[in-house]
Amino acid sequence: MGKIKKAIITAADFGADFLPATKAMPKEMLPIVDTPVIQFVVEEAIASGIEEILIISGKNKSTIGNHFDRNVHLEKLLSEKNENEKLAVLAKSDVPNIHYIRQAYPNGLGDAILHAEAFVGDEPFVILLGDDIMPNGTPLTRTLMDLYDEFQTPIIAMMKTGMEELAHSGVVEVNEARGENLFSISHVFEKVGSSVAANDFGIIGRYVMTPEIFSKLHALSEEAKPELQLTDAIDALNSEQEVLAYEYKGKRYDAGDKYGLLLANIELGLKHKETAKPLAGYLKELSKQLKRE
Ligand code: G1P
Repeated sequence: MGKIKKAIITAADFGADFLPATKAMPKEMLPIVDTPVIQFVVEEAIASGIEEILIISGKNKSTIGNHFDRNVHLEKLLSEKNENEKLAVLAKSDVPNIHYIRQAYPNGLGDAILHAEAFVGDEPFVILLGDDIMPNGTPLTRTLMDLYDEFQTPIIAMMKTGMEELAHSGVVEVNEARGENLFSISHVFEKVGSSVAANDFGIIGRYVMTPEIFSKLHALSEEAKPELQLTDAIDALNSEQEVLAYEYKGKRYDAGDKYGLLLANIELGLKHKETAKPLAGYLKELSKQLKRE
């Protein structure tokens, strides 16, 4: 199979964990300092060399499409005021080659991915979950794409997330090492309640897949109630062709979670040129105050 050019970004989840903020606004548009969560994900895909993106959205998500569209009116107002820095910031969110499709009902990540079948065709592709962000260093998607070039087999990203979080994520039971930070897998499980073994890894939201995943999703779709899980289809695929798992060791924020979004705001706020200094000063004072309490 050829080079990877296409990415699917999922943004269909209705974001109940962030109510009331998400009553009328997509959770993927919640900001980290000044940038919506999903822009980090789109930037990762583009920085990785992806040429075409399909965002799978859902109800109340039209602002995502507006966000990546040009806003000529705003451009005109800013340029009349010579606000060149703001114009440059605005330009970063103009991404013309994004396609959109809506998942009509939240039937799970596997069902969302099935909506991309026609877009993908018979090419390998990447999946980026729209609320997982890894904003530093080499884009994780690029790393997975390079590994695909070498191994020509599906690859999922995983990391040591800690036992507690494993109960809320997909879990990888690794088999044997196949390279640096790269493993074959015995099984993957979705939210099994508690982890299968102490050395299990959590699935994080980046995958390289081949079109065979769609037949696995179709096969599971009848009995999968209430939600069709991508993880179950990956497990079925792994029983026929090797699926590899790459252990990511960088920084990841689960921005689909209140605490994860807060951490991302604090840590990236400490790097932002306008907020770094006052925020660091404030946090030092706060930590002294907390020590006294
Ligand atoms: C999804 C996947 C899960 C993965 C997680 C990573 O779950 O189903 O396997 O571990 O994303 O963020 P969700 O967070 O949508 O419940």
